[in-house]
Amino acid sequence: MRPGADHFGFAGKVALVTGSTRGIGLAAARLFAAGGASVVISSRKPEACAVAAAAITAAGGHAIAIPAHVGRAPDCAHLVEETQNRLGRLDIAIANAAVNPVFSPVSNLAEESWDKVIATNLTGAWHLARFALPAIARQHGGAMVFISSINGRFGIPNSGAYGISKAAVEQLTRQLAVEWGSQNVRVNAVAPGTTRTDMIRALTANPAFIEAVESRTPLRRIADPEDIAAAIAFLASTAARHITGQVLTVDGGETILRGAL
Ligand SMILES: NC(=O)c1ccc[n+]([C@@H]2O[C@H](COP(=O)([O-])OP(=O)(O)OC[C@H]3O[C@@H](n4cnc5c(N)ncnc54)[C@H](OP(=O)(O)O)[C@@H]3O)[C@@H](O)[C@H]2O)c1
Repeated sequence: MRPGADHFGFAGKVALVTGSTRGIGLAAARLFAAGGASVVISSRKPEACAVAAAAITAAGGHAIAIPAHVGRAPDCAHLVEETQNRLGRLDIAIANAAVNPVFSPVSNLAEESWDKVIATNLTGAWHLARFALPAIARQHGGAMVFISSINGRFGIPNSGAYGISKAAVEQLTRQLAVEWGSQNVRVNAVAPGTTRTDMIRALTANPAFIEAVESRTPLRRIADPEDIAAAIAFLASTAARHITGQVLTVDGGETILRGAL
């Protein structure tokens, strides 16, 4: 992970990624570090944060660990404040942490399950935004990227509150893009399709599931976390300087075929 050519303008920047101890968040953090950014690794578990930050440092990047539960406003305030105290600034914030703990029709969902999904996926993203965006604006500009999901676009059996939280995250993206554009802060989202991570390990452990997704996906593969991280990095980079309020779908074409099946 030696820093290479700085096509994306990450050198000297500070990038904070929630949910970056594994999966898509960790892949994004690695990419920012490879581009020369200092990276903040964050999740609920201090040990996992320390391990991920140490791995990036061992690979030649610069990373620190600041644990935070995104559903708790004081944690998010501390995350942003501590980032600025220890790294001097904040240029890029990625609201990636999310959960999908229950497969159930939304009509039968226990109230605690609804609350947990909304508190983490939607309120958690909003908490990060309201502390991170003013800090980014103080650097005279930068970018925030939310992680949505193609599940926010369809009615899906047993999807519960997850897709609803992601649909709201896409509207949060547009709303904040309007509010912060004049301060040169861009706000976008990436909507991944099926991606090989712990979140859907129970599904990807079943070869029939993978076969079914791949057969309805034009590129005939499910994503690796690095496929999603590349899109996050692009939207966070100076290469995307004229893009705001958009949702970039990264799904191998899975959703363009849905209507035909
Ligand atoms: N995988 C897919 O197929 C897929 C598809 C579409 C969208 N997405 C989206 O992509 C993003 C990343 O998902 P992933 O698949 O990489 O998930 P993952 O492998 O389950 O990783 C989730 C990360 O979020 C952290 N996290 C969970 N709850 C948290 C909380 N309350 N506060 C802070 N951190 C928390 C986890 O660490 P701790 O447990 O240590 O807190 C972990 O680092 C999510 O927004 C997800 O909705 C995933």
